[in-house]
Amino acid sequence: MDATSQRLLMCRPTYFAVDYAINPWMDPGAPVDTALAVRQWEQLRQTYRDLGHTVEEITPVPGLPDMVFAANGGTVIDGKAMAVQFRDPQRADEAPAYRAWFEAAGFEMYDPKHVNEGEGDVLLAGDHLLAGTGFRTAHSSHAQLQEVFGYPVITMQLVDPRFYHLDTALTVLDERTVAYLPEAFSPGSQAVLRRLFPDAVHATMADAEVLGLNAVSDGRHVVLPAQATDLAAKLRDRGYETIGVDLSELRKAGGGPKCCTLRLRQGKASK
Ligand code: ARG
Repeated sequence: MDATSQRLLMCRPTYFAVDYAINPWMDPGAPVDTALAVRQWEQLRQTYRDLGHTVEEITPVPGLPDMVFAANGGTVIDGKAMAVQFRDPQRADEAPAYRAWFEAAGFEMYDPKHVNEGEGDVLLAGDHLLAGTGFRTAHSSHAQLQEVFGYPVITMQLVDPRFYHLDTALTVLDERTVAYLPEAFSPGSQAVLRRLFPDAVHATMADAEVLGLNAVSDGRHVVLPAQATDLAAKLRDRGYETIGVDLSELRKAGGGPKCCTLRLRQGKASK
């Protein structure tokens, strides 16, 4: 399997905290160790660098504790960047910060007309854009995604509030294959996934409950939460190299490696 070297955007969790609850993982009463979150995040960044990826960083903004979850900052494909519109007011101010970064980096900008939480819910899988809905990204935004990017958009209906973003329920492994938790999707979406990806890896609830599907693949190496041991074993059986990382602090906000990582797809050649 060939690995693609990727350009990634990350945001240091300098101001990370769990001050509010907008998903079932978040308990504002539970202690959070921000210094540990930063060290774990630095290990994730080092993992990407060791794999030969380029990591760019956006400056964190005080008062935006979830800004570390760069995947929600936008959707960037073929040099086009679609900005985001968050469902929850607590995250609203992240959108212009990410938008300004894309603009300064020279991407062609598009603004969302509806709630759209970026690559948390929008995943390019081969020539299809898989777009989640049910909790965050509005179904009405899917048509705009198709119009802007010109990839057929496949709506994925999420049904379990713990797996509120598509990237908590499904990982794109390469151009042809994904891994996912079937029960996180409606019966119709499960049928679509079986049709599109007959060889997909099915994860267990135990894997998903440690956010094991919140993984980043370059087509050969899969960076995933260290606790997702069954999923890692299945991926190794399929010929992938797995790299476990511990993001226990960020998981208290409902995020894992993929949430911390936005793929910057420059042009058609490097999609
Ligand atoms: N606390 C954040 C939220 O609920 C976590 C976001 C995780 N990001 C992701 N791409 N799944 O919005």
